[in-house]
Amino acid sequence: MGLDIGSTKICACICEIGPYGDIHVRGFGTSASSGLNKGKIVHAEDLQRSIEKAIQRAELAAGARVDQVLTNLPVLETAFMHNTGLIISKEESGKISEAEKIECLKRSKAISKATDQTVLHMIPLYFKVDDAMVQNPVGVSGTHLETQTHIILVDTDQLNQITFMLKRLRLKIAGIVYDGLAAAQTMLSDNELKNGAIVMDMGGRFTKVGIFKNGLLQRASVIPIGGDTITQDIAQCLKTSIGEAERIKILKGAVNFNQINPGEFVEIRTDKGEKTSIQRRLLAQIIHARVTEWMTLIQQEMSFDFDPHYSIALAGRGSQLTGLDRYVEQTLNRKVRLMSDTLRDLGDSPEHASAIGVVVYGLKSRAIAVSAPPPPSQDPFNRFNSWIREFF
Ligand SMILES: Nc1ncnc2c1ncn2[C@@H]1O[C@H](COP(=O)(O)OP(=O)(O)OP(=O)(O)O)[C@@H](O)[C@H]1O
Ligand SMILES: [Mg+2]
Repeated sequence: MGLDIGSTKICACICEIGPYGDIHVRGFGTSASSGLNKGKIVHAEDLQRSIEKAIQRAELAAGARVDQVLTNLPVLETAFMHNTGLIISKEESGKISEAEKIECLKRSKAISKATDQTVLHMIPLYFKVDDAMVQNPVGVSGTHLETQTHIILVDTDQLNQITFMLKRLRLKIAGIVYDGLAAAQTMLSDNELKNGAIVMDMGGRFTKVGIFKNGLLQRASVIPIGGDTITQDIAQCLKTSIGEAERIKILKGAVNFNQINPGEFVEIRTDKGEKTSIQRRLLAQIIHARVTEWMTLIQQEMSFDFDPHYSIALAGRGSQLTGLDRYVEQTLNRKVRLMSDTLRDLGDSPEHASAIGVVVYGLKSRAIAVSAPPPPSQDPFNRFNSWIREFF
């Protein structure tokens, strides 16, 4: 089972794994997230009940019970850093050994982190032997081994709480995956993951931006704006309840206010219970103001050097806002799409990208065993990609 613990909804997805690691989705279950406030666990029992509800619904839909789970975590307080590890080989053969590779990775993990943070992933971005790039340094002749890793840190308390909850639900945890890594597995093709692409998961409270190349997450960032931020703006500006703001956002919301006829009106109910009507254009102007800030923050986070041709896949239900995909395309000046071939092949939709994605990631990083894994030459993923914690 793949589990997506989002800030607005929990989604459980039961998958059957074929002998070659092929995934067959058997059933989904969702529930509204409770016990979270702005992505932080504030009431563990409530959150556990939400998770349980989503799982029960998925089991009912699939007609099967599961005892193995892969999950993401609430993304608040996720941190990213790049670090380098260096080692001088002492091997008599003059070739780098497996033990030295592991020692070099260990050294790159020696970062100064806060005591309440845990390393969830350590992704080796490259290896160099005597300044020459190599895919795998083991067996390569040379003395100076260098690696650069992308380290993903999570809040230890959140990690422990989720682990505890899943154990209490009698589930065996096969893996915990950073959400931005999970969604990319279903939103990007293997070609895009290898040659370079961007995923923006626009959720309720957060937007997770990830830049991928060589099958690896090169850069990542979490921006504290999502669909719910817009709902709150609407509720505040139009003096309505959150529920009413959400309703009109989904039914009549749009980003490009210039394209809306000033004569078009929307009926709303204010928080005093009165019915009134407002220009739909005004609704779109409120949305546009926040979307502009949203894009500015995303641009700031992506203001480093990478290929201007990388296209963007939008995930998360926050991206379903009318006109948002075109707006992102124009602002960030690159191709944008909302669907992926992987999800289309599975007969599924982007709202399940993370729940299926954790399972795909589990397979690629071999956290889930299959009887006939792909031969190493065809496997774009490095075994060290994710579950490096098991080695140390
Ligand atoms: N049809 C729609 N049009 C516009 N917005 C929508 C639509 N459907 C849902 N949303 C918005 O999508 C957001 C929820 O997205 P999603 O379910 O991807 O979040 P999440 O995974 O729970 O949160 P996060 O990933 O931030 O932890 C809400 O803000 C909701 O208003
Ligand atoms: Mg999400």
